[in-house]
Amino acid sequence: MAQRQRLIVGNWKMHKTTSEAQAFVKQLAGLLPKSPSAGVTIILAPPFTALSAVADAIKSLPIELSAQDAHWEDLGAFTGEVSVPMLKNAGCRYVIVGHSERRRYFGETDATVNKKVGAALRHGLRPILCVGETWEQRSNGETKQVLSSQLTDALSGIEKDRADDIVVAYEPVWAIGSGRPATAEEALDAHRHIRATAATLWGQEAGGRLPILYGGSVTPDNIGEFLAIREVDGALIGGACLDPAQFAKILAVAHTNS
Ligand code: PGA
Repeated sequence: MAQRQRLIVGNWKMHKTTSEAQAFVKQLAGLLPKSPSAGVTIILAPPFTALSAVADAIKSLPIELSAQDAHWEDLGAFTGEVSVPMLKNAGCRYVIVGHSERRRYFGETDATVNKKVGAALRHGLRPILCVGETWEQRSNGETKQVLSSQLTDALSGIEKDRADDIVVAYEPVWAIGSGRPATAEEALDAHRHIRATAATLWGQEAGGRLPILYGGSVTPDNIGEFLAIREVDGALIGGACLDPAQFAKILAVAHTNS
């Protein structure tokens, strides 16, 4: 099987004003690999307020833009929300959906995640669908069951020919921001299970095409270990993506590994 594209996504969460975002891109631009590998896609996910400024700043750079969330309706009386057409118009090609922080603090459910995946695909944005178990669920031996049900519910009604348009991120909740990443073995196990679940939904061939990223305490020091796993198609990075030098180090490892 041909090597799949590597995706490295920097999720800024609730960090950086518009001017800080512009300064970040300027610094990062000077640190990008001189001859970047076509096998690596770099994606930045700034907060809504910085999307347009980052879209402008990355115009001549090999960087794509993602939002961190979206509403599933195109427009309407939903105070505080932002729709997929708005994100598309702001320059986004990706949108993160179902991040565990949205599930934990903002009442995101598998049903709303499913509507968001559908909205993103309807408008030509690639959803980056986050799934992952809590520590309690892992301790109870429920990891596989949690991953299957999150994935099956989020992808309900989505046709198999959309497998290339979706990105899944395996993010164990206990690994996020904890400094305690999954081991290579834990990640491999989870990624295999996610792919097997996708194959059950869509068949072996379409399931095999789904890109699956790892996320949770990824750093310049451990990214190489994750990318060495054949089942890992890239990474979703929080804390370590906020500093351009750190993020550039991660990108450099990704480029040498692709
Ligand atoms: P972290 O966050 O890299 O800070 O653990 C990852 C994420 O939440 O996407």
